[in-house]
Amino acid sequence: MAVGGIEIGSGNGANYEARVTPFVVIACLVAASGGLIFGYDIGISGGVTSMDEFLQKFFPKVYAKHHSPGRIYNQYCTFENHLLTLFTSSLYLAALIASFFASATTRAFGRKISMTIGGLVFLIGAILNGAAVNVEMLIIGRILLGVGIGYGNQSVPVYLSEMAPPKLRGALNMGFQMATTIGIFAANLVNYGTAKMKHEGWRVSLALAAVPAVIMTIGALCLPDTPNSLIERGKKEAAREMLQKIRGTANVDLEYSDLLEASESSKRVERPWKQITERKYRPQLIITCLIPFFQQITGINVIMFYAPVLFKTLGFGNEASLMSAVVTGLVNVFATLVSIFTVDKFGRRILFLEGGIQMIICQIAVGSVIGSVFGVSGEGSFSKGMGNLTLGLICVYVAGFAWSWGPLGWLVPSEIFPLEIRSAGQSVNVSINMFFTFIIGQLFLTMLCHMKFGLFYFFGAWVVVMTVFVYFFVPETKNVPIEEMNRVWKAHWFWGKYIPDDAVGLDHHLPSTSYNNQNV
Ligand code: BGC
Repeated sequence: MAVGGIEIGSGNGANYEARVTPFVVIACLVAASGGLIFGYDIGISGGVTSMDEFLQKFFPKVYAKHHSPGRIYNQYCTFENHLLTLFTSSLYLAALIASFFASATTRAFGRKISMTIGGLVFLIGAILNGAAVNVEMLIIGRILLGVGIGYGNQSVPVYLSEMAPPKLRGALNMGFQMATTIGIFAANLVNYGTAKMKHEGWRVSLALAAVPAVIMTIGALCLPDTPNSLIERGKKEAAREMLQKIRGTANVDLEYSDLLEASESSKRVERPWKQITERKYRPQLIITCLIPFFQQITGINVIMFYAPVLFKTLGFGNEASLMSAVVTGLVNVFATLVSIFTVDKFGRRILFLEGGIQMIICQIAVGSVIGSVFGVSGEGSFSKGMGNLTLGLICVYVAGFAWSWGPLGWLVPSEIFPLEIRSAGQSVNVSINMFFTFIIGQLFLTMLCHMKFGLFYFFGAWVVVMTVFVYFFVPETKNVPIEEMNRVWKAHWFWGKYIPDDAVGLDHHLPSTSYNNQNV
């Protein structure tokens, strides 16, 4: 972008000549398949773990507990079993570890190789799960799925942002989240259908994960590598040709020289992991550590993973439980659209704040309704009216998440770092997210057993903390070119003192008033 007659490094996006070519469209489809895999996993395990036949076969103790005649034990603890939760959460631990290997593979061999590895390993995991005859096969299958997700989630977003014309970057970023919600919804629907099968419905649910895996693997094999990756691996001429092809024009000089420059400057940063801890990156680093933690401690995955189990715990029948998961899944998809259409108009902060308040109200209400029916003893059952009220409140809560912390939890960390440490920052974000996804997945059923309806107040209290945090500490980044982000930090009432004057760089040519409204 030419500002005050001066060209600013790789911020020239607005001036690049580019058309939306078939390559870019295919890149979107691959992104979608990456998100589908992630979402399918999130949505499938809760339904499967609520199927009697599955429990009988792999977790007979949980099954016996749930079906013992005249049971008088605490309803809140029905599904508490560490092996059962490990079935859900092991995947995220594997994804966390794999994402570090993926980052090295992606750098050394290109994005395409990482995506292919991700799709293939995931496929093997789906086959193992579909064929499982014991718990070991199930868990090993889940771990392989996790490795696939780690590779996919690391490489697909990088691939996308490098292939996309700069003007489409934001929309494509949220497209990944959109695909994730569609994956969750598809899994909820599959579970609803397979639960009706007389035998082995769970097997079909798990095996169908192979479908998005095949799409992703074939997609990755057919795709070209990104110009950035070709430059990184010394293939400069091939990179220029590729850029001409994907932008649909011979006139790519400006973007090409920016890519070369960006690649040179990132090579100069020898130790991004050390650099990221420097004082001048403190604001971004703190926010990038807190956002994924906050996103998970909203408690969203209690609903995404365990909706059917939760509804069953509350006394819903089998079919009603799975149907309820389908309903929340659908709300999740549509509410994500709201974010896509408003985020660049109204900004990130307003969505964070509104979504947060909506979630707090619903969490207090859900806790109170459940508390009034089950009390502390956990004995009782829902009337139809109370059941529907709870489902309605959970839907409003999911909508609040889906247009705030869902997509923004991924978008904001990806846009606040300067280039030299953006990739390291992104890895921090992904790994913290996966870590807390694992923790919530592993501990939820135990927490429900011990904290009872208070668990909903617990998550609600965290949403109060994060909403106040956003109000005071998260600056607005709407419409700010990514290379000029430092000015936003510099202008902030609290973070400004961490940013040295020279770090604002060439963007001091911009009128400062455009950023002044973000101080609180
Ligand atoms: C989160 C997932 C969550 C999903 C729900 C994503 O942004 O990272 O943990 O399950 O949203 O749609």
